[in-house]
Amino acid sequence: MEIIVAQNAGFCFGVKRAIETAQKAAENNNPVYSLGPLIHNPQEVERLKNAGIIPIEEIGEGNGKTIIIRSHGTTPEKLQEIVEKGYVVEDATCPFVKKAQILAQKLTNEGYQVVVVGDKKHPEVQGIVGWSGYKALVVENPEEAARLPFYPKIAVIAQTTQKSENFWQVVEVIKKKGGEVKPFNTICHATQTRQEESRKLATEVEVMLVVGGKNSANTKKLAQICAATNTPTYLVEEASEIKPEWLAGKAKVGITAGASTPAWIIEEVRKKVEQMASLEQALLEIKPVKEG
Ligand code: F3S
Repeated sequence: MEIIVAQNAGFCFGVKRAIETAQKAAENNNPVYSLGPLIHNPQEVERLKNAGIIPIEEIGEGNGKTIIIRSHGTTPEKLQEIVEKGYVVEDATCPFVKKAQILAQKLTNEGYQVVVVGDKKHPEVQGIVGWSGYKALVVENPEEAARLPFYPKIAVIAQTTQKSENFWQVVEVIKKKGGEVKPFNTICHATQTRQEESRKLATEVEVMLVVGGKNSANTKKLAQICAATNTPTYLVEEASEIKPEWLAGKAKVGITAGASTPAWIIEEVRKKVEQMASLEQALLEIKPVKEG
């Protein structure tokens, strides 16, 4: 049996980088802290805690301990507070998020009214707004954009996980108001790439396993995309859920995973499929014992 794991299965580049930064820091100065959990996956948060990477929400006295800024980034005020409290900062803000933060700051300084297309409550968006000196406005959709007053110079940037379509619709609505409008497409394509790769893989295999939390929106979406190719698709949280009958007689199995699924869970699933395949092969090779 051939087992193919999608290249972009699981964590995106930014999250992988933040975890690696934290692990490296914990080797030298254990424990280290992260400002909020590095990833929304309870098993991975637990594993990181055991490795001395502790998520905190309140910033106490640092006493020279290291604090990791997660991939979503944070505000300049928070960064300053952390330094003043005596922490060593390891900034693992994803470079794509950093780009949006820098643009928000620069464009505000150049006199643009910055508009961020995104989710007002999301820490990434709150961070970007912070870098604009809290002058940036946030809109979630074209309807909200339509309610913005007229500004002579507007710069529009996007939360990295925005859908392109929504971003450009907002830009169009703002353009209709007149004045100068500068759009900056700061969308990161990690999610789209993962989805497209999984769809393609599903068309090339006989059964597809999607690994991730059953309540994870992006994992469910991946499973829907794979199932839409008519290849039998199963969503599993862990290796023990895989049923031998799903794989019986199959020559090619594809594995993909949601954005919050750690590599070690994907590897456990791959190993389990491999074990089941060799067991099936061994059973096929057992020759019936002749009587007499
Ligand atoms: Fe991940 Fe960075 Fe994109 S955190 S989703 S690679 S913006």
